[in-house]
Amino acid sequence: MTNAAAPATSGAWWRAGVIYQIYPRSFQDSGGDGVGDLEGIRRRLDYLVSLGVDAIWISPFYPSPMHDFGYDVSNYCDVDPIFGSLQDFDLLLADAHWRGLKIVLDFVPNHTSIEHEWFEASRQRRDDKSDWYIWRDGASSGGPPNNWRSHFGGPAWSFDPVRGQYYYHAFLPQQPDLNWRNPNVKAAMFDVLRFWLRRGVDGFRVDVISQLMKDEALRDNPVNPHWTPLRPQIEELEQLYSGDQADIHPLIAEMRGVLAEYGDPLLIGEIYLPVERLVAYYGAALSGAHLPFNFQLLETRWEAESLGAMIASYEALLPEGAWPNWVLSNHDRPRVATRVDAQARVATMLLLTLRGTPTLYYGDELGIGHVDIPPPRIRDPWALREPSLPVGRDSVRTPMQWNRSANAGFSTGEPWLPLTPDWSERNVERFEKDPASLLNLTRMLLDYRRAHRSLSLGSWRLVESGSDVLVFERRSGEERTIVALNLGAAPRLRRLDSIGSSFRVAISTYCDRTGETFDQELGLRPDEGVVIEVLG
Ligand code: NOJ
Repeated sequence: MTNAAAPATSGAWWRAGVIYQIYPRSFQDSGGDGVGDLEGIRRRLDYLVSLGVDAIWISPFYPSPMHDFGYDVSNYCDVDPIFGSLQDFDLLLADAHWRGLKIVLDFVPNHTSIEHEWFEASRQRRDDKSDWYIWRDGASSGGPPNNWRSHFGGPAWSFDPVRGQYYYHAFLPQQPDLNWRNPNVKAAMFDVLRFWLRRGVDGFRVDVISQLMKDEALRDNPVNPHWTPLRPQIEELEQLYSGDQADIHPLIAEMRGVLAEYGDPLLIGEIYLPVERLVAYYGAALSGAHLPFNFQLLETRWEAESLGAMIASYEALLPEGAWPNWVLSNHDRPRVATRVDAQARVATMLLLTLRGTPTLYYGDELGIGHVDIPPPRIRDPWALREPSLPVGRDSVRTPMQWNRSANAGFSTGEPWLPLTPDWSERNVERFEKDPASLLNLTRMLLDYRRAHRSLSLGSWRLVESGSDVLVFERRSGEERTIVALNLGAAPRLRRLDSIGSSFRVAISTYCDRTGETFDQELGLRPDEGVVIEVLG
């Protein structure tokens, strides 16, 4: 299966680019309060350049009471003092641009903080803001207006005694959903985009974009017959009416129109949907998100056949000209190292050699693993609301590990979350000295990707997936690159005579085979992946 390149956005930086996600609380603290900040990120820009990424996406840093650590925004056009100031942001942006790095912001349009002045006005039916949120009377039988659940457990409706009505919140009660059917809400939020675009940002990752539009009649969601008590409460119902409605697509196209006023900066959509529905978010004639986030690597069994089938089906479902993308970890899901153990290197190789824009989560280049969070230190509101489930997100948000100094060089103060137990071994300074470290492997892969069009922009074709081995070909003109991954713990041999007659290893996940040539028969060690040049 091969997909052609898109004409419309073929020159865009993000097609060949690699995005690095920074959770700003946890990257670098410059102020000594144990919480990372914008100035801290600025001081680490050289590291990001040396790593070889093209852009950073920074999770929210706007003023917020931090019930959901910044995903509850109380002012969209400023910086929370804990992260710095607008001046710090401008400096960060200028310094990043000077180094050739792009900056992608996190835009959170589905809900505001309950402390946003808009909500205050709305609950008092003031300033024409009465209808800016989703207000309803309770059901005639008593209780909330419908059966929708919050993503963090419990009902998605809370009663507001000031207004005497219920308001809808897909997440925490402190995160009321905006009413995007109100044109004034739309206009105000589009102005937020313009505010940051005027400052020069390079794009947005849009939080839960697929949920901005809800069923107008707010019909009850149907029961999900497959739910089990070990799954989050929200999954007890199918999310049929609370998101992914047909009228979301024209709205995203309008959002793209706002971005088009400033060139065509990147629009990424956060969308957790099956691939068939996900690809609709590229929009009619690609008028939707440039990159609807593809979370399939987070959700697919780590096994050759399943991965091969998943990649092939994603490639096949992409609309004509749509550009793929891949996410291996993020701030909401367990880190890759904890999901795949000995396969962390193979996973990094896969992420950085697939066709499409990869998003690399901070710390994955060190293989940061699970951190046990002692109950008194739990901060994640979801973990606190559904304590019986393994949903805690704190352990994927722990501080970046820079060196062996106090608190791993993250902060001079007590970090807001604990470090991994192995931080004094697993840190940037140490890994930089080890040519075979995961950090150096990541760098090699990023360098190679940049230097080889077959990897950055070339076509993708599945060669084989089964018996623990996944092999695919990337190609651009005459340049052909083979990626062969051993997903198992036993050595494997593969004949590559259907592909060519002589080959050279460019990179092994063990970092020790570069330059090795072979004819047709490839040996793979346990948990080894290789990038191979086809010589003839
Ligand atoms: C998705 C974000 O990634 C997550 O961290 C947040 O809790 C919810 N949206 C609510 O904004």
